Amino acid sequence: MGMNRREFVGWMSMGAIVTSVIGCNDNVGDSSEPSTPKDEPSSGEFQVIGTVDELNEQGSLLDEKTGVIVIRSPSNDLIALDPTCPHKGCTVEATDNKERLACPCHGSQFTIRGEVLQGPADEPLTNYEVKTEDDQVLVKLS
Ligand code: FES
Repeated sequence: MGMNRREFVGWMSMGAIVTSVIGCNDNVGDSSEPSTPKDEPSSGEFQVIGTVDELNEQGSLLDEKTGVIVIRSPSNDLIALDPTCPHKGCTVEATDNKERLACPCHGSQFTIRGEVLQGPADEPLTNYEVKTEDDQVLVKLS
């Protein structure tokens, strides 16, 4: 029925592998596996989002998972914030001189720390704690 000998042998050996894997699992059992708890990043902990070198080169860092950005302010402070505009959710962008954040949608402006300078947004951007350790930039995501 359309299956040549080669395919048939392939199927047979696949079956043999599956069988032996299942057999192996049976022998191991559940309790003999040493459980190694991993350090799951939980909320409220500092997480590495890049290196100081990357920050210096690019001027900002973006954590792709959370969308949080880290910027170095003109006064050399590190600032981490959620760039989601509180007005309607567009993504604000830092001006070239890193003195302000501007929303491309309806013109809201914020200080580099996220305080509202100009509406329509009427709430500040969410800030996060940020620090460096060795060469790494860490943000406390809560
Ligand atoms: Fe940012 Fe409207 S979404 S000003």
